Amino acid sequence: MKTALYFMSAILLVALPAGAADPHDAGATGPMGGVEDLLPRAGPKYGQTRFMVVSDPHIISPALWSEGPAFEKLLSNTDGKLVREAAAVLEALRRAVRRERPDFLLVAGDLTFNGARASHEFVARALARVEAAGVPVYVVPGNHDVSNPWARRYTGAEPRTVGHVGPGQFRDIYAEFGYEEASATDTASLGYLVEVAPGLSLAMIDSNRYERNFDRGYPESRGAISRSQARWLEEELTAARRRGEAVLPVMHHSLLSHRSGGGGRPFGASWIDMWPRFARLFWEAAAPVVFSGHAHEQDIAGLRGEDGEWLYDVATGSLASYPHPYRMVTITAEQRLEVRSATLSAVDFAASADDTSRGDAFLARSRRRYIARFVARLAPRLRERDGLRAEAARDRARRIAVSLLDGSYREDPPPGVNNITVDLVTGRWTAAECAGRGLAAFACP
Ligand SMILES: [Fe+2]
Repeated sequence: MKTALYFMSAILLVALPAGAADPHDAGATGPMGGVEDLLPRAGPKYGQTRFMVVSDPHIISPALWSEGPAFEKLLSNTDGKLVREAAAVLEALRRAVRRERPDFLLVAGDLTFNGARASHEFVARALARVEAAGVPVYVVPGNHDVSNPWARRYTGAEPRTVGHVGPGQFRDIYAEFGYEEASATDTASLGYLVEVAPGLSLAMIDSNRYERNFDRGYPESRGAISRSQARWLEEELTAARRRGEAVLPVMHHSLLSHRSGGGGRPFGASWIDMWPRFARLFWEAAAPVVFSGHAHEQDIAGLRGEDGEWLYDVATGSLASYPHPYRMVTITAEQRLEVRSATLSAVDFAASADDTSRGDAFLARSRRRYIARFVARLAPRLRERDGLRAEAARDRARRIAVSLLDGSYREDPPPGVNNITVDLVTGRWTAAECAGRGLAAFACP
């Protein structure tokens, strides 16, 4: 209980934007309804596959920084992301891919720290090494990646502006990671469809609003799907449905909220404008499992429609911060979609599998930094809210950080569920964590 309370105060203090709806009010269409059997619906048959999902690696090219005042300033402003260790994180990812042997790797956006062209090229070279090992990679852009006015180098005394990439350059740099293999592309956005198994396609959706970034002077972090992309998506999903093909939508911004214990009610700045339209669209297209990133939370949210049908949003946390989470997803011949949560291991960060000491040290440092950054942000707010003395506030903030990390990293309040199996025929879900406890809610009763 204590953990749950800590969790909630941390979430409210750190994450709740001013004026946002109460995230614990799941609303009438939340997932807390009774258990009822759904009639099997005539949906498409999903091709069998097993794939890996990562998100938000936020990479900055080592060519864009060196130790000094500008870089120190940058480090004091990052939220637990490992900036110095970009190359080590990408190398660990490559090792994890070799260990997991997925059919393909999905990257759900925010590939770069601030959209610098040099950073995109650095990421593309790392992804090329993954593909060279025989694992295709598919990417979507995040809000940091395209037309970012904050693209900088951090050498010397002050940050300096460097070249960014526009939509066309993004498409070129990542041509081998989706755009060239696409079976359909939206000409007005960076959205595309790509077939990843017989009868199974990814709908890679561009959920970013970068068109006016340079007028605004900052990269817009809120998500949206433009009218024209929505029309294109609707046509493609309808056509796929007619052909009997299954589709998994992927986008950087989550369709459902991940801060309400799976309540599924979007709130605040992070979510997609007009989300109910897209929830309906995905239901109608029999594409009820969406993959996303952006919030740096490893979490699964569910929404139940009026007819009892489920929609799932599987968010993957940031690869750049401890505990470096990823997902493994398996679709079986029995039409079950199994989601498993995992983290990069000491072996992935080690120079060799026989000597993991370097990897252990890396993970310990990464964890310390995550906690230090968390405490620096939360303690002043705890002092103000609860009138605590400085040391007491830091102590409580530290305990909250540790409970978040040890509670499987920012997921639903305990006993949160982060590994589920969706029956793609009925749409219902089960989880080992909830064995014998019913299917009614994401936080098991
Ligand atoms: Fe993002």
